[in-house]
Amino acid sequence: MLKVQFCEIIMVQLAEARRQKFALRICDELKAQIEAGTLTPGGLLPSTRALAAELGVSRTTVTEAYEQLLAEGFIETRPGAAARVSSSLGPSASPRARHPCEPSRVRLSAYGRRVRDFPPPPLVTGRLLADFRYGDMSAGDFPALAWRRVLNSVIARRPQRLRYGDAAGAPELRAALQAYLWRARHLRCDLEQIIVVNGSQQGLDLCARVLLDAGDRFVIEDPCYAIARQIFLSVGAVPVSIAADDEGLQTARLDKIADARACYVTPSHQFPLGGVLSAGRRQQLLAWARRTGACIIEDDYDSEYRFDIGPIRPLQTMSEGASVIYLGTVSKTLSPALRLGYLVVPSAMIDVFTAAKRLADRHTPTLDQQALAELIASGAYERHVRRARRRNAQRRAALLEAISVRLGDAATIVGSDAGLHVVVWLNDISPDREADVIACAQAGGIGIYPITPLYGSSSARDRRNCAGLVMGYAALDERDIRRGVERLAAILREFAS
Ligand SMILES: Cc1ncc(COP(=O)(O)O)c(C=O)c1O
Repeated sequence: MLKVQFCEIIMVQLAEARRQKFALRICDELKAQIEAGTLTPGGLLPSTRALAAELGVSRTTVTEAYEQLLAEGFIETRPGAAARVSSSLGPSASPRARHPCEPSRVRLSAYGRRVRDFPPPPLVTGRLLADFRYGDMSAGDFPALAWRRVLNSVIARRPQRLRYGDAAGAPELRAALQAYLWRARHLRCDLEQIIVVNGSQQGLDLCARVLLDAGDRFVIEDPCYAIARQIFLSVGAVPVSIAADDEGLQTARLDKIADARACYVTPSHQFPLGGVLSAGRRQQLLAWARRTGACIIEDDYDSEYRFDIGPIRPLQTMSEGASVIYLGTVSKTLSPALRLGYLVVPSAMIDVFTAAKRLADRHTPTLDQQALAELIASGAYERHVRRARRRNAQRRAALLEAISVRLGDAATIVGSDAGLHVVVWLNDISPDREADVIACAQAGGIGIYPITPLYGSSSARDRRNCAGLVMGYAALDERDIRRGVERLAAILREFAS
């Protein structure tokens, strides 16, 4: 009897030792992930129940590991809430720390080497009083009810099988876009010419792969949408930067360029300066494309937002004999997080773009495509666009007024007639101090972003001999816009003194 009891005690002790060992291992593994930056400050940890089930250990073992991490300050817990990585931990010292077993050298492709060296977008950390980051939208503007309604209705249709869809896009979305483009942009095309993509960005990526080989030349506006430039550079193509002014791309300069394969333009609203490509320049550009065989890539990213005149007709509608690929997106009307966009390609390019899209990711998620199709077909999309235009006109008015009142002659605003951003030239600050102004503003709680990285050539940048900002306003309400500009003005005064 005594022997049996003794054995039981030994068994219990062994089980306890094993449990402690497992708890320690879990604790070490989570610490390593936190230190490597895989788990970031504030990030959620799995629940003890889920992790125990995943690892095949008892919940007590995981709880013990979490208690140890809590005691050491790696995680924080609140009653009734999931455990999180301590938000007081700064960003990991080596977020990309290499696992000890990984090889130290990996041979990258030419593409890999090029994209590795592109600078990441500017990172702003900490809480800001006002963040004028261009591209962000207010979550409050998203038509959540309407989106939920169309998603529910798509899900309720319950197809018998879940299957891969058409690489070029769901037929109902292509049909809805075809009708929308005709109504909103006077753009007439066959349904087959529409290729649904994951945002304009994927459309640009497909254009680069399909049209350009390493060493080929492409024309791009200067300054320009930096991502477009990087995408074309990523395939090894060589940029020919042509300055843009109040009337967009200076097309007269195309005369000397006979061997470019593509030309990327934002004719309805030059990014970032805001000019509209004038009628004469449109003709020049199209004539050049006809003469040289270059393909025009027309990025119509924010044409829904014109505040002065009616919408500008796309180049695509006057292309006759020239190859024009039209690019649209819902990133400015619904949300950049949806990743939904579309190409309208010349008929001769339908097959190649469909094949390239299929290889890239098979197709854009079907549910989202069908939901967007229903939103457009029901009329809710255009109602929302009208509301969003009114709302953004109010934000724009608040920004223009605040800049004029608070900054006066110290600032010149350009490109405010359309879109969701303006360029602000800081007349009294030299270009070489642009980065310092931005750092100072960020330290003072204001997110502002430089124009210089959008320039491809220093000669084009030199034409404006002062610091410049690209200021987006679609994510802020009027009160924050005013407070942000007021604080910015104070920071600039201090900076100048
Ligand atoms: C010039 C330009 N094109 C396109 C886009 C939108 O890109 P996407 O559709 O990939 O979100 C933006 C967004 O900021 C832009 O500035």
